[in-house]
Amino acid sequence: MLSGIQPTADSFHLGNYLGALRQWVAMQETHDTFYCIVDLHAITVEHDPELLRARTRVSAAQLLALGIDPERSTLFVQSQVPEHPQLSWVMECMAGFGEASRMTQFKDKSARQALDRVSVGLFTYPILQAADILLYQANFVPVGEDQRQHLELTRDLAQRFNGRFGQTFTLPEAYIVKDTAKIYDLQDPTAKMSKSVPAGVVELLEEPKKAAKKIRSAVTDTGREIVYDTENKPGVSNLLTIYSALTGKTVAELEAAYEGKGYGDLKKELGEVLVEFITPVQAKVKSYLDDTAELDKVLARGAERAREVAADTLKQVYDRVGFLA
Ligand code: TYM
Repeated sequence: MLSGIQPTADSFHLGNYLGALRQWVAMQETHDTFYCIVDLHAITVEHDPELLRARTRVSAAQLLALGIDPERSTLFVQSQVPEHPQLSWVMECMAGFGEASRMTQFKDKSARQALDRVSVGLFTYPILQAADILLYQANFVPVGEDQRQHLELTRDLAQRFNGRFGQTFTLPEAYIVKDTAKIYDLQDPTAKMSKSVPAGVVELLEEPKKAAKKIRSAVTDTGREIVYDTENKPGVSNLLTIYSALTGKTVAELEAAYEGKGYGDLKKELGEVLVEFITPVQAKVKSYLDDTAELDKVLARGAERAREVAADTLKQVYDRVGFLA
């Protein structure tokens, strides 16, 4: 099992946590898990070097604080495992230009600016992602809904390689938990929660009071009833999804508990649930960041373990495509 997350913000957000990271933690119990902080992907858009270094450490600290156990999981930073870009090159040579051009995330991101300002790295981004996954022969990749297309490309490339050069890669499957596959923006519950729209995004590391206030000011819908109805009540439904995921109560239980109560009650109480969840996480993050030397050691050990597996796959690939040993 492998998954990755970009260190492109000062904090992960609730969508990252509920869509993916929660599954990362749970799957440690049952799978051989590899978790990668994808800093190579982070430079596909303009970035500040010192900020990237800081955010890579903050990302690692958050993963540890959320419950990733570096004894049970291989937790590592992508740039410390050179096999990733090495395999990526080979897979780039397997991928069609048209096929890569159809990736919707690339189309969305590149549509916002002049093409000469869009990096070639942003274009090949999904192929590097495929390399991340294929190096570890992953069977499952826990992600949110927005990564489904990249996972399909990964399978296509793996299949093509296997077809041309002989069975080499395991075909990975996206592991997407339906209920939380897409958490919506609190200010625009028809759009995905993502780092670009701050008012509607709850960050795990933001001041708890501010996070609770964001929930209290979430856009809700017309009417008064608290029922799960994504079509007519996307705002309330999103809050119920978040509430259910954070407490383990089912949506039906929540609907029953809030019968006769108003949106204000729901938002106030969900705000409290959220504060209770993020406050201890923040304390742990702070303590991991107090000792960055130790944090860097944990990541170095992770990279060493990752390399053992990655080097093995890359060796086979190089041999199959005809490179000298
Ligand atoms: P990234 O860094 O954007 O997001 C990390 C994870 O969070 C999920 N996610 C969401 N889930 C539900 N609702 C949301 N609003 C929401 N926003 C984000 C994402 O689906 C993702 O699982 N390309 C990847 C990083 C990557 C990767 C990989 C993932 C690189 N290599 C290999 C898996 C395997 C990305 O940008 O995720």
